[in-house]
Amino acid sequence: MKSYKENIDFNNLPRHIAVIMDGNGRWAKKKGAMRIFGHKNAIQAVKDVTEGCGELGIKYLTLYAFSTENWSRPKAEIDGLMELLVSTLKQEIKTLMDNQVKLKTIGDTSNLPIDCQKNLAWAIDQTKNNSGLTLVLALSYSGRWEIIKATKAIAAEIEQGKIKASDINESLFENYLQTSGIPDPELLIRTSGELRVSNFLLWQIAYSELYITPTLWPDFRKEHLYEAIWSYQQRERRFGKTSEQLNPVS
Ligand code: IPE
Ligand code: IPE
Ligand code: MG
Repeated sequence: MKSYKENIDFNNLPRHIAVIMDGNGRWAKKKGAMRIFGHKNAIQAVKDVTEGCGELGIKYLTLYAFSTENWSRPKAEIDGLMELLVSTLKQEIKTLMDNQVKLKTIGDTSNLPIDCQKNLAWAIDQTKNNSGLTLVLALSYSGRWEIIKATKAIAAEIEQGKIKASDINESLFENYLQTSGIPDPELLIRTSGELRVSNFLLWQIAYSELYITPTLWPDFRKEHLYEAIWSYQQRERRFGKTSEQLNPVS
Protein backbone atom coordinates (compact mmCIF):
# COMPACT_ATOMS: atom_id res chain seq x y z
CA MET A 1 0.00 0.00 0.00
CA LYS A 2 1.19 3.48 -0.86
CA SER A 3 2.29 5.62 2.06
CA TYR A 4 0.79 9.07 2.62
CA LYS A 5 4.40 10.20 2.92
CA GLU A 6 4.77 9.97 -0.87
CA ASN A 7 1.97 12.51 -1.28
CA ILE A 8 3.32 15.04 1.19
CA ASP A 9 4.37 18.36 -0.31
CA PHE A 10 7.69 19.10 1.37
CA ASN A 11 7.40 22.77 0.40
CA ASN A 12 4.20 23.15 2.42
CA LEU A 13 4.98 21.49 5.73
CA PRO A 14 3.61 22.88 8.97
CA ARG A 15 6.37 24.44 11.05
CA HIS A 16 4.58 23.50 14.25
CA ILE A 17 2.34 20.51 14.96
CA ALA A 18 0.48 20.26 18.28
CA VAL A 19 -1.08 17.02 19.50
CA ILE A 20 -3.74 16.27 22.11
CA MET A 21 -2.66 12.73 22.88
CA ASP A 22 -5.95 11.18 23.99
CA GLY A 23 -7.38 7.70 24.41
CA ASN A 24 -4.83 5.83 26.51
CA GLY A 25 -7.44 4.80 29.06
CA ARG A 26 -9.86 3.53 26.43
CA TRP A 27 -7.07 1.64 24.68
CA ALA A 28 -6.25 -0.15 27.95
CA LYS A 29 -9.91 -0.81 28.73
CA LYS A 30 -10.41 -2.49 25.36
CA LYS A 31 -7.63 -4.86 26.34
CA GLY A 32 -9.11 -5.42 29.80
CA ALA A 33 -6.09 -3.74 31.38
CA MET A 34 -5.53 -0.91 33.88
CA ARG A 35 -5.38 2.67 32.58
CA ILE A 36 -1.65 2.91 33.32
CA PHE A 37 -1.06 0.11 30.81
CA GLY A 38 -2.46 2.48 28.17
CA HIS A 39 -0.13 5.26 29.29
CA LYS A 40 2.87 2.92 29.09
CA ASN A 41 1.91 1.91 25.58
CA ALA A 42 1.56 5.58 24.61
CA ILE A 43 5.33 5.98 24.74
CA GLN A 44 5.81 4.22 21.39
CA ALA A 45 3.41 6.70 19.78
CA VAL A 46 5.36 9.60 21.27
CA LYS A 47 8.59 8.11 19.93
CA ASP A 48 7.12 7.48 16.47
CA VAL A 49 5.66 10.96 16.09
CA THR A 50 8.79 12.67 17.42
CA GLU A 51 10.98 10.68 15.05
CA GLY A 52 8.56 11.21 12.16
CA CYS A 53 8.46 14.99 12.69
CA GLY A 54 12.25 15.10 12.97
CA GLU A 55 12.70 13.15 9.74
CA LEU A 56 10.30 15.41 7.85
CA GLY A 57 12.06 18.53 9.08
CA ILE A 58 9.17 19.87 11.18
CA LYS A 59 10.60 22.51 13.54
CA TYR A 60 8.22 22.26 16.54
CA LEU A 61 6.11 19.48 18.02
CA THR A 62 4.02 20.24 21.09
CA LEU A 63 2.52 17.30 22.96
CA TYR A 64 -0.25 17.75 25.53
CA ALA A 65 0.94 15.28 28.14
CA PHE A 66 -0.78 16.44 31.33
CA SER A 67 -3.38 19.17 31.76
CA THR A 68 -4.19 21.36 34.74
CA GLU A 69 -7.48 19.45 34.91
CA ASN A 70 -5.69 16.08 34.95
CA TRP A 71 -4.65 16.82 38.56
CA SER A 72 -8.23 15.78 39.42
CA ARG A 73 -7.54 12.16 38.39
CA PRO A 74 -7.01 9.37 40.95
CA LYS A 75 -3.69 9.77 42.77
CA ALA A 76 -2.43 6.37 41.66
CA GLU A 77 -2.88 7.30 38.00
CA ILE A 78 -1.13 10.67 38.49
CA ASP A 79 1.76 8.99 40.32
CA GLY A 80 2.04 6.41 37.54
CA LEU A 81 2.15 9.11 34.88
CA MET A 82 4.84 11.08 36.72
CA GLU A 83 6.98 7.96 37.17
CA LEU A 84 6.55 7.16 33.51
CA LEU A 85 7.72 10.65 32.60
CA VAL A 86 10.91 10.23 34.64
CA SER A 87 11.73 6.73 33.36
CA THR A 88 11.06 7.78 29.75
CA LEU A 89 13.31 10.85 30.01
CA LYS A 90 16.15 8.68 31.32
CA GLN A 91 15.58 5.99 28.72
CA GLU A 92 15.21 8.30 25.74
CA ILE A 93 17.88 10.92 26.38
CA LYS A 94 20.34 9.17 24.06
CA THR A 95 17.80 9.04 21.23
CA LEU A 96 17.00 12.71 21.76
CA MET A 97 20.70 13.55 21.51
CA ASP A 98 21.29 11.27 18.49
CA ASN A 99 18.39 12.91 16.66
CA GLN A 100 19.29 16.49 17.66
CA VAL A 101 15.95 16.94 19.47
CA LYS A 102 15.72 19.92 21.80
CA LEU A 103 13.37 19.48 24.76
CA LYS A 104 11.23 22.24 26.26
CA THR A 105 8.24 22.36 28.57
CA ILE A 106 5.24 24.64 28.88
CA GLY A 107 2.97 24.65 31.91
CA ASP A 108 3.17 25.05 35.66
CA THR A 109 5.98 22.55 36.09
CA SER A 110 6.64 23.80 39.64
CA ASN A 111 3.59 21.66 40.55
CA LEU A 112 5.28 18.44 39.40
CA PRO A 113 6.99 16.08 41.85
CA ILE A 114 10.54 17.21 42.58
CA ASP A 115 12.02 14.13 40.89
CA CYS A 116 10.18 15.03 37.67
CA GLN A 117 11.31 18.64 37.87
CA LYS A 118 14.95 17.59 38.33
CA ASN A 119 14.90 15.13 35.44
CA LEU A 120 13.16 17.62 33.17
CA ALA A 121 15.70 20.32 34.01
CA TRP A 122 18.51 17.83 33.34
CA ALA A 123 17.08 16.71 29.97
CA ILE A 124 16.37 20.30 28.92
CA ASP A 125 19.92 21.26 29.77
CA GLN A 126 21.44 18.24 28.00
CA THR A 127 19.52 18.95 24.80
CA LYS A 128 19.71 22.75 24.82
CA ASN A 129 22.24 23.02 21.99
CA ASN A 130 20.51 20.50 19.71
CA SER A 131 19.54 22.00 16.38
CA GLY A 132 16.78 19.72 15.08
CA LEU A 133 13.16 19.38 16.17
CA THR A 134 12.06 21.28 19.29
CA LEU A 135 9.86 18.92 21.33
CA VAL A 136 7.61 20.89 23.67
CA LEU A 137 5.94 18.90 26.45
CA ALA A 138 2.83 20.54 27.90
CA LEU A 139 2.85 19.48 31.55
CA SER A 140 0.45 20.78 34.17
CA TYR A 141 -0.61 23.06 31.34
CA SER A 142 -3.85 24.73 30.38
CA GLY A 143 -4.57 27.59 28.03
CA ARG A 144 -6.55 29.58 30.60
CA TRP A 145 -3.78 29.22 33.19
CA GLU A 146 -1.28 30.50 30.62
CA ILE A 147 -3.44 33.49 29.61
CA ILE A 148 -4.04 34.49 33.26
CA LYS A 149 -0.31 34.19 33.99
CA ALA A 150 0.53 36.38 31.00
CA THR A 151 -2.11 38.92 31.97
CA LYS A 152 -0.75 39.16 35.53
CA ALA A 153 2.81 39.65 34.25
CA ILE A 154 1.68 42.42 31.90
CA ALA A 155 -0.36 44.09 34.68
CA ALA A 156 2.68 43.98 36.98
CA GLU A 157 4.85 45.67 34.36
CA ILE A 158 2.22 48.37 33.86
CA GLU A 159 2.14 48.95 37.63
CA GLN A 160 5.92 49.26 37.64
CA GLY A 161 5.73 51.75 34.79
CA LYS A 162 7.74 49.52 32.42
CA ILE A 163 5.01 49.44 29.78
CA LYS A 164 1.78 51.31 29.12
CA ALA A 165 -1.68 49.78 28.77
CA SER A 166 -1.80 51.26 25.27
CA ASP A 167 1.28 49.17 24.34
CA ILE A 168 -0.75 45.95 24.60
CA ASN A 169 -1.30 44.30 21.25
CA GLU A 170 -1.14 40.71 19.96
CA SER A 171 2.60 40.65 19.48
CA LEU A 172 3.29 42.06 22.94
CA PHE A 173 0.85 39.62 24.54
CA GLU A 174 2.55 36.67 22.83
CA ASN A 175 5.83 37.59 24.50
CA TYR A 176 4.28 36.75 27.87
CA LEU A 177 2.91 33.36 26.83
CA GLN A 178 4.72 30.09 27.57
CA THR A 179 5.19 29.62 23.83
CA SER A 180 6.97 32.95 23.35
CA GLY A 181 9.25 32.69 20.32
CA ILE A 182 7.46 29.60 18.93
CA PRO A 183 5.20 30.04 15.89
CA ASP A 184 1.52 29.12 16.33
CA PRO A 185 0.73 25.52 15.34
CA GLU A 186 -0.55 25.30 11.78
CA LEU A 187 -1.92 21.83 12.56
CA LEU A 188 -3.60 20.52 15.71
CA ILE A 189 -4.13 16.77 15.92
CA ARG A 190 -6.43 15.11 18.46
CA THR A 191 -6.64 11.35 18.75
CA SER A 192 -9.52 9.17 19.97
CA GLY A 193 -12.30 11.19 18.38
CA GLU A 194 -13.22 13.77 21.02
CA LEU A 195 -14.44 16.97 19.35
CA ARG A 196 -13.02 19.46 21.86
CA VAL A 197 -9.83 21.35 22.65
CA SER A 198 -9.74 20.63 26.42
CA ASN A 199 -8.03 23.89 27.40
CA PHE A 200 -5.03 23.37 25.08
CA LEU A 201 -3.16 26.34 23.53
CA LEU A 202 -6.30 28.48 23.47
CA TRP A 203 -4.53 31.59 22.18
CA GLN A 204 -2.21 29.82 19.75
CA ILE A 205 -4.79 27.69 17.90
CA ALA A 206 -6.82 30.69 16.73
CA TYR A 207 -6.16 29.70 13.09
CA SER A 208 -4.84 26.13 13.39
CA GLU A 209 -6.22 23.47 11.10
CA LEU A 210 -7.86 20.74 13.21
CA TYR A 211 -7.37 17.06 12.49
CA ILE A 212 -9.33 14.66 14.66
CA THR A 213 -8.89 10.94 14.23
CA PRO A 214 -10.69 8.04 15.94
CA THR A 215 -7.33 6.27 16.32
CA LEU A 216 -6.47 5.90 20.01
CA TRP A 217 -3.15 7.50 20.93
CA PRO A 218 -1.27 4.25 21.75
CA ASP A 219 -2.05 3.05 18.19
CA PHE A 220 -0.85 6.29 16.50
CA ARG A 221 2.19 5.76 14.27
CA LYS A 222 4.20 7.66 11.63
CA GLU A 223 1.73 6.71 8.92
CA HIS A 224 -1.08 8.42 10.90
CA LEU A 225 1.13 11.50 11.18
CA TYR A 226 1.72 11.51 7.41
CA GLU A 227 -2.03 11.22 6.81
CA ALA A 228 -2.70 14.17 9.15
CA ILE A 229 -0.11 16.30 7.35
CA TRP A 230 -1.49 15.27 3.97
CA SER A 231 -5.01 16.22 5.13
CA TYR A 232 -3.68 19.58 6.33
CA GLN A 233 -2.17 20.18 2.89
CA GLN A 234 -5.56 19.66 1.20
CA ARG A 235 -7.09 22.57 3.12
CA GLU A 236 -7.44 26.11 1.86
CA ARG A 237 -6.27 28.36 4.70
CA ARG A 238 -8.23 31.53 4.08
CA PHE A 239 -7.58 33.56 7.26
CA GLY A 240 -10.84 35.39 6.74
CA LYS A 241 -10.34 36.12 3.06
CA THR A 242 -12.36 34.69 0.20
CA SER A 243 -11.20 31.82 -1.95
CA GLU A 244 -11.21 34.17 -4.96
CA GLN A 245 -8.82 36.55 -3.23
CA LEU A 246 -6.41 33.70 -2.64
CA ASN A 247 -6.68 32.33 -6.18
CA PRO A 248 -7.14 35.30 -8.51
CA VAL A 249 -7.80 34.34 -12.13
CA SER A 250 -5.19 36.07 -14.22
C1 IPE B 1 -4.62 10.73 27.42
O1 IPE B 1 -5.34 9.55 27.56
C2 IPE B 1 -3.49 10.85 28.40
C3 IPE B 1 -3.68 11.87 29.44
C4 IPE B 1 -4.68 12.71 29.52
C5 IPE B 1 -2.66 11.95 30.47
P1 IPE B 1 -6.51 9.44 28.62
O2 IPE B 1 -5.90 8.97 29.91
O3 IPE B 1 -7.27 10.69 28.72
O4 IPE B 1 -7.39 8.29 28.00
P2 IPE B 1 -8.98 8.25 27.86
O5 IPE B 1 -9.41 9.54 27.25
O6 IPE B 1 -9.53 8.05 29.23
O7 IPE B 1 -9.24 7.08 26.97
C1 IPE C 1 -6.70 16.21 27.32
O1 IPE C 1 -7.18 14.92 27.49
C2 IPE C 1 -5.42 16.37 28.10
C3 IPE C 1 -4.27 15.63 27.59
C4 IPE C 1 -4.23 14.94 26.51
C5 IPE C 1 -3.10 15.72 28.42
P1 IPE C 1 -8.28 14.60 28.58
O2 IPE C 1 -8.61 13.17 28.48
O3 IPE C 1 -7.85 15.11 29.92
O4 IPE C 1 -9.48 15.52 28.08
P2 IPE C 1 -11.03 15.52 28.42
O5 IPE C 1 -11.16 15.57 29.90
O6 IPE C 1 -11.61 14.25 27.87
O7 IPE C 1 -11.57 16.72 27.73
MG1 MG D 1 -8.87 11.42 27.72
